Amino acid sequence: MLKGRHLIDPMDFSIDEFEEIFNLAEEIISNPEEYMHVCEGKLLATLFYEPSTRTRFSFEAAMLRLGGKVLGFSEPNSSSAAKGESVADTIRTVACYADIAVMRHPKEGAPKVASMYSTIPVINAGDGGHHHPTQTLTDLLTIKSIKKGLGNHTIGLCGDLKFGRTVHSLIKALSRYENNKFILISPQELKIPDYIKKEVLQKNNISFLEVERMEEVIDKLDILYMTRVQRERFFNEEDYIRLKDSYILDEAKLKKAKEDMIVLHPLPRVNEIAYEIDKDSRARYFDQAKYGMYVRMALIAKLLGVK
Ligand code: CP
Repeated sequence: MLKGRHLIDPMDFSIDEFEEIFNLAEEIISNPEEYMHVCEGKLLATLFYEPSTRTRFSFEAAMLRLGGKVLGFSEPNSSSAAKGESVADTIRTVACYADIAVMRHPKEGAPKVASMYSTIPVINAGDGGHHHPTQTLTDLLTIKSIKKGLGNHTIGLCGDLKFGRTVHSLIKALSRYENNKFILISPQELKIPDYIKKEVLQKNNISFLEVERMEEVIDKLDILYMTRVQRERFFNEEDYIRLKDSYILDEAKLKKAKEDMIVLHPLPRVNEIAYEIDKDSRARYFDQAKYGMYVRMALIAKLLGVK
């Protein structure tokens, strides 16, 4: 039963509950007109303390396409956060006005705190370098739809694996499916955090390999998940500048990949995928962005318990 629940960490929902959401998303993709009014009279609040294009717009589009309405802020200085209001007080207030809330925050754990004080469902839309569970739902629906299943894949995750919250959430989620293998491609300074290695990969005996060069492994991959270097999480600009162009996927590199490998990216991209790649049939990151709206439609409908 998903009605009334919060989504803070990808592991908050079971595999069966993920499946319920994917099934509804697929149903909405096939018959969007049947869902145009299911959220009439409902309000979604978007509380974005950090910039966003895809997550905020796709949540707003999702609610509007379900017949509901949206309110919120995309700039915390336009809210009473600028006067020092706590997340706990903000959500208690928002819960007086809205039926469901989506929160992005630079501090790890802020949406979790909000959920502890909230009488309405709270969805984590990204908390610092921690988690981004609805990007994970997006990624899983994309993989399931294109690769016809969520198990038996070799997944290369490339770029900023230290601060990239989408990577942390995706590894956790994909680790629950059969026979997935991970190849973690990053510079030394941006390796995956130890807690993901120990508590997710090693603890569950999941095969993984850490490498620095994409060229060494690209031919082995079924999925290549590119990420940008997360400038906003660096303590100094010099380190960012030194590392920002560590990986650039271009035509020459993609030539070595399997014909049916897919390239995903949570976006925004900076330099890490050359624009020449966009026309390659393996580049699926804009399809991924579209799946994000449908999966969020399904998630909203499930958490609100609308028929
Ligand atoms: N993928 C993602 O979270 O993009 P935005 O930062 O634009 O929301």
